[in-house]
Amino acid sequence: MNFTDESINHARKLDARDELREFRDEFVIVDPDTIYLDGNSLGRLPSKTIEILKDAVERQWGERLIRSWNEGWIEASARIGAKLANLVGAKPDEVIITDATSVNLFKLAGAALKDQKNRTKIISDELNFPSDLYILQGLIDLIGSGYTIEMVTSGDGIQINQETLANEIDKNTALVVLTHTCFRSAFVHNMAFINQIAHRKGAYVLWDLSHSVGSVPVDLNGTEAELAVGCTYKYLNGGPGSPAFLYVRKDLQKKLIQPLWGWLGSKDPFSFNLDFMPAENISRFQVGTPPIVSLLAIEPGLDLHLQAGMDRLRKKSMMQTEYLLFLFNQWLLPLGFNLGSPRNPEIRGSHVSIRHPEAFRISKAMIEAKKPDIKVIPDFRIPDNLRLGIASIYTSFEDINRAMRRIKEIVERKTYEQYTGERMKVT
Ligand SMILES: Cc1ncc(COP(=O)(O)O)c(C=O)c1O
Repeated sequence: MNFTDESINHARKLDARDELREFRDEFVIVDPDTIYLDGNSLGRLPSKTIEILKDAVERQWGERLIRSWNEGWIEASARIGAKLANLVGAKPDEVIITDATSVNLFKLAGAALKDQKNRTKIISDELNFPSDLYILQGLIDLIGSGYTIEMVTSGDGIQINQETLANEIDKNTALVVLTHTCFRSAFVHNMAFINQIAHRKGAYVLWDLSHSVGSVPVDLNGTEAELAVGCTYKYLNGGPGSPAFLYVRKDLQKKLIQPLWGWLGSKDPFSFNLDFMPAENISRFQVGTPPIVSLLAIEPGLDLHLQAGMDRLRKKSMMQTEYLLFLFNQWLLPLGFNLGSPRNPEIRGSHVSIRHPEAFRISKAMIEAKKPDIKVIPDFRIPDNLRLGIASIYTSFEDINRAMRRIKEIVERKTYEQYTGERMKVT
């Protein structure tokens, strides 16, 4: 992938050759002069979702009322989970949609620790998403029996050395918790290698796939992964706060006991037994009533990803992040930017972090631009990262070219100086 042409015409040629280009038409794009590069945080709205939601609200809820539970609602978590399983190399009955990623992490980490006798070490790394670490800290606070969390350090803030991580896993390790594609730098861990080392030492590995699902191929069964969680509102376009998913390998489903015992995790919720008896399948990892409207909204985005296929999406995503880096080298490196993501596309997910001391004000100038300038929506991550998310199912080469050109312009003209450093609640 050697790019030499910076022109917008060349970007358009790349789009014309893209075999996935028609998927863009399946999404709502209200303003062609707003370039959206934040699909790694909140994916775009698939047009089909509008229809699905209308039907879910007007007919299923409005007309069918409670009868809808027996007309598909009660199976929806497992049915849509089975579809998602295809994207992460799992069997249909190993994945279920439920709760938030953080809650699922609590449940599966709790289940793994309970199953590990006399082991007190949990391993994670400093590039992990803070919520995952908070969940582990809270769990230890709750069970309070001498557990420690060993944090593998990064050195450059971009990558985690896999050998260093592997060397940390020993006979006292109960659990390793890693975010497969790191949220800030997009570094991708070597799942097969870490699983293999951990299994040799008898430790569980719990993967957070939030930034991988829909962007990086994952083979949970092929790498013998035991446990995973992830969200559906980023690359999968499930909508704001759409419920998350969890994966438990088939042979562990009857063995592991998760700590949140709710009626939908029980064997027969409508027997109303007073004592909890866990379901014997993936349902035991559910807790309470699913948010049906949000749950149903996940399906159109999933279907589009299944049609496009993860191999084709990954191929396009690698080409697009390489293209973005080509323009970055030409246009932004000379303007005081640094790269906050791995150079090697094999270990890079589908967003690229670029770093600049004025990153926050630059992001404001990008988002709040006034016509005739185009708007570009990235996100900002402290201290100085602009994250540019490529969602290959709808991001075009032209989008990337226009966005990078706009960033160059903002920095060259110092347009960002017109903006304050005042932060909003959500960045
Ligand atoms: C890697 C990762 N893990 C966990 C979370 C938290 O997810 P939730 O808010 O669904 O619990 C996020 C949220 O962005 C995330 O990026």
